[in-house]
Amino acid sequence: MSGDELRYIKEAFDTNWIAPLGPNVDEFEKEIAEYVGANEAVAVSSGTAAIHLALSLLNVKKGDKVFCSSLTFIASANPIIYQGAEPVFIDSEPVTWNMSPDALEKAFKDASDEGNLPKAVIVVNLYGQSAKMDEITSICDHYNVPMIEDAAESIGSTYKGKASGTFGQFGIYSFNGNKIITTSSGGMLISNDTGALKKARFLATQARDPAPHYQHSNIGFNYRMSNILAGVGRAQLRVLDERVKARRNIFNRYYQELANLPGFYFMPELENTFSNRWLTALTINEEEAGVSVGELLKALTEENIEARPVWKPLHMQPIFQGVKYYPHGENENISEYLFINGICLPSGSNLNEDDQTRIINCIKDTVSIGNERKRYV
Ligand SMILES: Cc1ncc(COP(=O)(O)O)c(C=O)c1O
Repeated sequence: MSGDELRYIKEAFDTNWIAPLGPNVDEFEKEIAEYVGANEAVAVSSGTAAIHLALSLLNVKKGDKVFCSSLTFIASANPIIYQGAEPVFIDSEPVTWNMSPDALEKAFKDASDEGNLPKAVIVVNLYGQSAKMDEITSICDHYNVPMIEDAAESIGSTYKGKASGTFGQFGIYSFNGNKIITTSSGGMLISNDTGALKKARFLATQARDPAPHYQHSNIGFNYRMSNILAGVGRAQLRVLDERVKARRNIFNRYYQELANLPGFYFMPELENTFSNRWLTALTINEEEAGVSVGELLKALTEENIEARPVWKPLHMQPIFQGVKYYPHGENENISEYLFINGICLPSGSNLNEDDQTRIINCIKDTVSIGNERKRYV
């Protein structure tokens, strides 16, 4: 927390706005919209809820197809299932680790040949890095299919100077506890389509018709953000730029210390993009490095340091067995490679220099032990 959150929470208590509406909600929405340069924003209970609302607004329903990045957290795709629609997973490309325009083009071509285009495309900006937006939007525009930008992990990032999350018909952010700024749980739906966002507010509050009695002609959700949590969000937004700076400094230090180790390849930053570096992620080529990601994770855990593998691609998840998937190239399965060889290092904005030194030393020691072992085997 930044320290200012309690002031906004106190205001909510003093004015008795303890509800999923109130002045903090209104202000937080305006402030986020202004920060990212969108016409409007709707504060909701989670990033997942924001994706679900976006799909509802695009009228995605039973039997429809939705294309979605494969290398992501399952929350990107779950709302497709909530709507009874069918996901089709799209591989990553190696530069941004995000949706491959080549795989997307192939999926669109097949869908077009079958006369069954998707209702929407969900594009994820992994670990803060924007996907190749020019290429992806141009393909979606060509087929006239709307894009939802899952910017859950990338608030504060930009692509060619424009805020991450503002490229699709809808963009979503997450304020879950693990994100760069948090409201403990929460999310935001943004768009330039103010009419659609008016409907989002309606759907997010149980779709209550404008009648004095309780009347409903649609099925809605209970998805609005609490006025108390919006207060936390307002204070957090004020330190977002500082947090981005801290995360980028953490990335840069890992890079300086570890990038020259053989087989260590850090997640790139696409030219003309700026990543919030939510998590420092890299791949390790086991043959060159002398250690595998698994060995490194084990060594870090033994030192009580929590690191994680890269997201397991959705097309590899048991629940999505048999779901259609488009790889980057005929023999190029980028998301699977990133999953098997990728690691996310501790990256919290409050990670201090000493702790980071401890992590770096543990990694260097594990690598040199691995190489020593290799020499004798
Ligand atoms: C890529 C991605 N999409 C969606 C979500 C869902 O956000 P939330 O946890 O706020 O529902 C998350 C994070 O949790 C995420 O990392």
